[in-house]
Amino acid sequence: MNVVLFGATGMVGQGALRECLLDEGVHRVLAVGRAATGQRHEKLREVVVPDVADLSAVEGELVGFDACLFCLGVSSAGMSEADYTRLTVDLTLAVARTLLRLNPEMTFVFVSGTGTDGSERGRVMWARVKGKAENALLGMGFRAAYMFRPAAIVPMHGITSRTRWIRIANTVLKPVFPALKALLPSYVTTTEQLGRAMLKVAREGYPKTVIEARDIPRV
Ligand SMILES: NC(=O)c1ccc[n+]([C@@H]2O[C@H](COP(=O)([O-])OP(=O)(O)OC[C@H]3O[C@@H](n4cnc5c(N)ncnc54)[C@H](OP(=O)(O)O)[C@@H]3O)[C@@H](O)[C@H]2O)c1
Repeated sequence: MNVVLFGATGMVGQGALRECLLDEGVHRVLAVGRAATGQRHEKLREVVVPDVADLSAVEGELVGFDACLFCLGVSSAGMSEADYTRLTVDLTLAVARTLLRLNPEMTFVFVSGTGTDGSERGRVMWARVKGKAENALLGMGFRAAYMFRPAAIVPMHGITSRTRWIRIANTVLKPVFPALKALLPSYVTTTEQLGRAMLKVAREGYPKTVIEARDIPRV
């Protein structure tokens, strides 16, 4: 399987990248972003673009992929709905449209979050916006599309978040992560478990298109 990965510099994306590189069934990984991960591996190629929403200059690189793991995304904290929509919906769909045109048999795996509002009409801004992105992706015509809705994510293997407040929270909570994971296995995943689950679903499929936090350990 050949995988194109977005958000590989982020916490979720670093986890997905690690699992892709370790998985013998993954032959090629292309990380696309506005910054490189800096990692070196025989299976990994990186493409850096100034604006991820505009991939026109690198379309030649984006052909021949079976799956996209889309881990690019930010917390809505401090963002207006318009700005959050521009990143979460507009950028994501621009990428998805390009990939689908170039890889009509592709499976698209998206990371949203627990509480995402599929009605798109609820009171919580981030949940509405993520719901809009999910619904659009599910209706685009990919061979398959899966929406992951993790709750808490514990970073493993030295992985860190790109978001400062999440980095601080993770440092403070680090001593209690094992207990939290044991107490709430359905709501606490790890970057390793999530990365493996995304890859497994991309390869084998899954009975549900929306994968809630409680489903992740069972994938
Ligand atoms: N962290 C959690 O506990 C958690 C829980 C549930 C759901 N999620 C969801 O998981 C997804 C990934 O979160 P994360 O924790 O991995 O976040 P993160 O560590 O902050 O990483 C964000 C990633 O998105 C990229 N990115 C952000 N804005 C961009 C832009 N304008 N253009 C191009 N790339 C951009 C970053 O690239 P740069 O390196 O270039 O900044 C980075 O690769 C998000 O959708 C988040 O809502 C996270």
